[in-house]
Amino acid sequence: MTGSKKTGGLAGISAGETKLCTVGKEGAGLTYLGYDIYDLADNATFEEVAYLLLQGKLPNQQELDAYIEKIKANRGLPDALKTVLEMVPADAHPMDVLRTGVSFLGNIEPEGDFANQADTADRLLACLPSMMVYWHRFHADGVRIDTETDDDSISGHILHMLKDEAPSELHQKSLSTTLILYAEHEFNASTFAARVITATLSDMHSAVAGAIGALRGPLHGGANEAAMELIQKFKSAAEATAGIHAMLKRKDLIMGFGHRVYTTSDPRNSVNKQMSKTLADEAGDTVLYPVSEAIEKVMWDEKKLFANADFYAATVYHFMGIPTYLFTPIFVCSRVTGWAAHVMEQRANNKLIRPAAEYTGPSLQEWVPISDRT
Ligand code: COA
Repeated sequence: MTGSKKTGGLAGISAGETKLCTVGKEGAGLTYLGYDIYDLADNATFEEVAYLLLQGKLPNQQELDAYIEKIKANRGLPDALKTVLEMVPADAHPMDVLRTGVSFLGNIEPEGDFANQADTADRLLACLPSMMVYWHRFHADGVRIDTETDDDSISGHILHMLKDEAPSELHQKSLSTTLILYAEHEFNASTFAARVITATLSDMHSAVAGAIGALRGPLHGGANEAAMELIQKFKSAAEATAGIHAMLKRKDLIMGFGHRVYTTSDPRNSVNKQMSKTLADEAGDTVLYPVSEAIEKVMWDEKKLFANADFYAATVYHFMGIPTYLFTPIFVCSRVTGWAAHVMEQRANNKLIRPAAEYTGPSLQEWVPISDRT
């Protein structure tokens, strides 16, 4: 759908209510259930944020401990799912792997009635990282990893499975912070897709599989991978400055910049940028971070466009040694919390989502028998 200028992409149109999140709201900014994103990024663990989104309140210590144990107990993959993951080709995109994995899980562990929807959400949260890394390690390294690690954090679990060793505290904490920042973002394209699917009274696996399909595209979650590819094209800040000028002249889209809702900055960017700098220093990087800053400066000077959450998330992941094609799948491992929370919110007050369209086709035509058609 292209739509008229007025309605194109539903920009600025309210499509429903939510208690879960504010995005760029005056006086509030980005909040999850009333908590400021900076407070959450500075003080919370991703597991606390997941609990907040899925249970509607911050956990106390006892609740958090029990929640972590529940997530850990749900990391295992059924043998049939492992077989499916092994059959998905090595050159598939891991976003397609996760979409298939979630869909298959919906066959072997169907949601049934919605009474256990929170358990379904927790199962997906726990085993998406396992699916992602199991497939990656099987095809990249020829090994069948044990996905039932003892790491308390989901970020530690991911990094541990990727490298067969426990991560440093800096890497674990940095990944966890990006998961917090990615967890929820109101009626973005993938979440809205999940709500549309949910509103037909379909199951959570279908909603999450559909959301993964929506997140995959480079205008949405796929932008973090596209941003990394862009940053890696340049060997110096000067080259990047010239290169971005040339791309803008050609009217190319610069991935990791701009946003449908934010107009002057993306609040998640300052946190990601700081982490990228810290990790660049740790890695002894003298190219990628300066290149990123050079791109950011040209985009602001020339177009007044700012880096969104995906831009510096790319180098945060890169400096930790995460392969680029896993960047958007890691986004999935986080955003599944927001998607599932929206599925539950939609179900609590459901109405089929079925907008109207402005008709722009031909006027009423007279039927012509096939023998008379030119
Ligand atoms: N690079 C270059 N120009 C950009 C741009 C970018 N990243 N983002 C927006 N623009 C330009 C558009 O070309 C358009 O210019 P025009 O008025 O001369 O045609 C203008 O800014 C408005 O952009 P528009 O595409 O109408 O905004 P939107 O609200 O529909 O799009 C995005 C928002 C996010 C899809 C868009 O900014 C984009 O494609 N960004 C790159 C992908 C990305 O980072 N996605 C992740 C989002 S979190």
